[in-house]
Amino acid sequence: MSYQGVLHRYGNLLDLPAHTQTVSLLEGNTPLIPMPRLGKELGCELFIKFEGLNPTGSFKDRGMTAAISEAVGRGAETVICASTGNTAASAAAYAARAGLRAIVLIPEGKVAVGKLAGAIAYGAEVIQVQGSFDDALSLVVEITQKTPIALVNSINPFRIEGQKTAAFEICDVFDGAPDWLCLPVGNAGNITSYWAGFKQYQKGLPQILGVQAAGAAPLVLGHPVEKPETVATAIRIGRPARGEQALEAAQQSNGKIIAVSDEEILSAQRILAAEGVWVEPASAAGIAGLIAEAGKGAGIEAKGKRVVVVCTGHGMKDPSIVTDSFASPKVIPAAYDDLISVIGK
Ligand code: F0G
Repeated sequence: MSYQGVLHRYGNLLDLPAHTQTVSLLEGNTPLIPMPRLGKELGCELFIKFEGLNPTGSFKDRGMTAAISEAVGRGAETVICASTGNTAASAAAYAARAGLRAIVLIPEGKVAVGKLAGAIAYGAEVIQVQGSFDDALSLVVEITQKTPIALVNSINPFRIEGQKTAAFEICDVFDGAPDWLCLPVGNAGNITSYWAGFKQYQKGLPQILGVQAAGAAPLVLGHPVEKPETVATAIRIGRPARGEQALEAAQQSNGKIIAVSDEEILSAQRILAAEGVWVEPASAAGIAGLIAEAGKGAGIEAKGKRVVVVCTGHGMKDPSIVTDSFASPKVIPAAYDDLISVIGK
């Protein structure tokens, strides 16, 4: 049995400085869940890499263990990030673990409740910025240039190093890369990390399908989006920090980056939940993209192929997206007859 985080398991493959002092919550080693029903419909062998099962409920923990381990080893006392929520919760947890002060900047009113609660619970100082994620990130870059506060957004190269471990894990399970890897793209750190990881591991390369939300799709439109808008708040980003690298990954892998509508994202979220996997809206973008492409004449060729879709965050991160769209459950007296009359025989 293994009780190891990603730095223990793959640290020898990661470009981290000698001063790095491992801070871990035993992240990584997430399951590749087969999806036989949806796979059959789409004509492919389909797996979900369920990153929502990391310690803080998102894939961010892989990069955060690396970034915080490096920061603490170099003597940093305070870390900061801008975030649509998941990075904030992850930074807060690993900083708490390391005994560091964590400051997180979030776009006002646009962070899902499970993420905000996480950041607060782990003890971060949460500051809402009147603006977008992109505005918050600019502030974080400025303050880390002018003060000793350490930046833990994915501009930090150690975040990318840690996140490469997801690609290593997939290759280890399949003894090679899948044919396609589909994933949501926001600030574009994750797609950059997967591509770097697959290239480094040399066990084969997948074609990559990156998926943005239509209201926040700068990489599809070819220009920044000043006021990004989408129900998938995690990827509500108009100026991705690693946009160039994302385009490179798509192009070099012979894949592509596409946009899907909010309706397609929410529908994909329901389709996954109907097969027992509940993910947050942004995390359903990869599946939404695969469904859109598989149903299109000129779409990607996934038939008969092994496809891994990365689901980046757990559904519990954003419970209100579900509860707000349904009437409250029925209420009955605590009596058997009432129960029977409600559910039928
Ligand atoms: N999925 C989820 C659930 C996310 O939280 C994010 C990014 C992404 C996908 C996109 O990943 O940015 O590497 O392209 N969330 C960041 C945050 C921006 O602040 O939590 P990316």
